[in-house]
Amino acid sequence: MHTPALTRQRVYDPVLRLIHAWNALMVVLLLVSSQLAALLQHDWPVPALWRLHLWCGYLLFLGLTARLTWGLAGPRHARLTELWQPAAWLKALRERRFFVPPRRFGHHPPATLGYVGFYALAWLMVITGLGLAAIDQGVGPLYFVLGYDFLRTDWFRRPHDWLEELILAYVLLHLAALVLHERWHGVPMAQAMVSGYQYLQSERKDNDGQSNPT
Ligand code: HEM
Ligand code: HEM
Repeated sequence: MHTPALTRQRVYDPVLRLIHAWNALMVVLLLVSSQLAALLQHDWPVPALWRLHLWCGYLLFLGLTARLTWGLAGPRHARLTELWQPAAWLKALRERRFFVPPRRFGHHPPATLGYVGFYALAWLMVITGLGLAAIDQGVGPLYFVLGYDFLRTDWFRRPHDWLEELILAYVLLHLAALVLHERWHGVPMAQAMVSGYQYLQSERKDNDGQSNPT
């Protein structure tokens, strides 16, 4: 049986991995708390679930700010420029091929479109969530502008509610893509944000375009 040789490199630094785990955990808690609160409707745990939701929202705000800061100050593979790869997005769109095997160390270039999209959505959730916190619960940094201003509730509630579906779709696609890359392209993908090591099939190239033999 032919087993492809793999080459590996340490790519994701511990701070980036910590921020990724933090943000992923907050997103899961936000999804679960809002779904549970909607399911239970008027039962006693609902106010506590919304308080938990708001605190996870603040912690996501912190995590997103940390990611932006690390994108400006962190090492090469954490930089914001690694996430901004319009040439790769255009190529993938033109060829209608997003699901290609990873060929370089660093973020999978076509997938960076999904990452940028996710961050844009997450920031919109923070802004609309802070608006709802001021209107529904009379708390948070927007309280002095919007405190209990129920006339404006729709401005924030509708987008917050709609974007939830997109956040959920992103999470499901992201996890499915990691599993499918492993199955179809034979590289251990998911562990990279845990161990920091990325694997590629041999003779694939580094981000500089340099050959990287085993
Ligand atoms: C992954 C991100 C998030 C998801 C999926 C999510 C989901 C939801 C959903 C489905 C609702 C119910 C909307 C409705 O009443 O129709 C809601 C309400 C709310 N969300 Fe979020 N949210 C997220 C992020 C945030 C963030 C970042 C904050 C704050 C910074 C926040 C604060 C709130 C508040 C205050 C409410 C209203 C709770 C109440 O009625 O007392 N959310 N969220
Ligand atoms: C469930 C919520 C999750 C969310 C919201 C999420 C979000 C993200 C985001 C935004 C990125 C871009 C990273 C960056 O800023 O540089 C990313 C990359 C990545 N995530 Fe997740 N993630 C989640 C769960 C997971 C899980 C459970 C794993 C597996 C352990 C994982 C593995 C990875 C890997 C390996 C990458 C880098 C992929 C590449 O090289 O392009 N993620 N994720």
